[in-house]
Amino acid sequence: MPRRDLTEHLLPASAIGTLPRHVAIIMDGNGRWARARGMPRSMGHRAGMDAVRRAVRAADHFGVEVLTIYSFSSENWSRPRSEVDYLFSLLRQFVERDVMDLHRRNVRIRIIGSREGLGEDIVALLTYAERLTSDNTGLTLAVAFNYGGRQEIAEAARKLAEQAVRGDIAPQDITPELIGRHLYAPDLPDPDMIIRTGDEKRLSNFLLWQSAYAEMVFLPEYWPDFDELSFQRALLDFARRERRFGGLGERRTRKVAER
Ligand code: FPP
Repeated sequence: MPRRDLTEHLLPASAIGTLPRHVAIIMDGNGRWARARGMPRSMGHRAGMDAVRRAVRAADHFGVEVLTIYSFSSENWSRPRSEVDYLFSLLRQFVERDVMDLHRRNVRIRIIGSREGLGEDIVALLTYAERLTSDNTGLTLAVAFNYGGRQEIAEAARKLAEQAVRGDIAPQDITPELIGRHLYAPDLPDPDMIIRTGDEKRLSNFLLWQSAYAEMVFLPEYWPDFDELSFQRALLDFARRERRFGGLGERRTRKVAER
């Protein structure tokens, strides 16, 4: 039975408090969700696709600017061939079935990750999705596909080394800002919050550079069970946190001044 769209039951964005501009999600637990139901892992990934649609609706509802989803990591190539093929077929389906609808809803699609090792047909589909939606002004949906944080940083280092060898930059020009400008999507803000479902607590090579000050929210539910209310819970958790970015933060500053 199809699940209900819970968007109408969500709080208005104004009731949440501070909202993150950029939410990134490690969608974990598809395989365990399927196993618990005696189903093949592919069914977990298929159900995970519906959870992606719910996450996009919720992000849209709350006016989040960027939603990044970790769809296929550079380490996922080590899974059985049949599972890799299935994840690729889901990406194809996503572009063929969902992109037009997202385009109508003013969603801008970005794909982050390496294009190396991807077939020409997939690269063409990804380019089509990005071009079609490039002028949209609503939610930016960044799909991390064939993505690895270390690879992303290594690619940036390689580009800068090439520029240095050509004499275009000097070694002392290399700053965190310059490295940041050579990552896959330099125009996107860093994630404010990273959600990981499936009760695991690690980053798994996701947005390593960009997550320096991200708030981590770990949810026990498997990704296919994630819905609009899970998204709202994570936002409420985020709004309660005090972000200090290495400084003392408002409360501490006041305490220090009072002494
Ligand atoms: C992790 O669960 C999930 C993945 C490796 C793939 C996530 C993909 C989707 C949700 C659908 C594809 C989305 C797009 C937009 C193409 P796991 O398989 O590691 O779960 P487990 O830890 O329970 O085994």
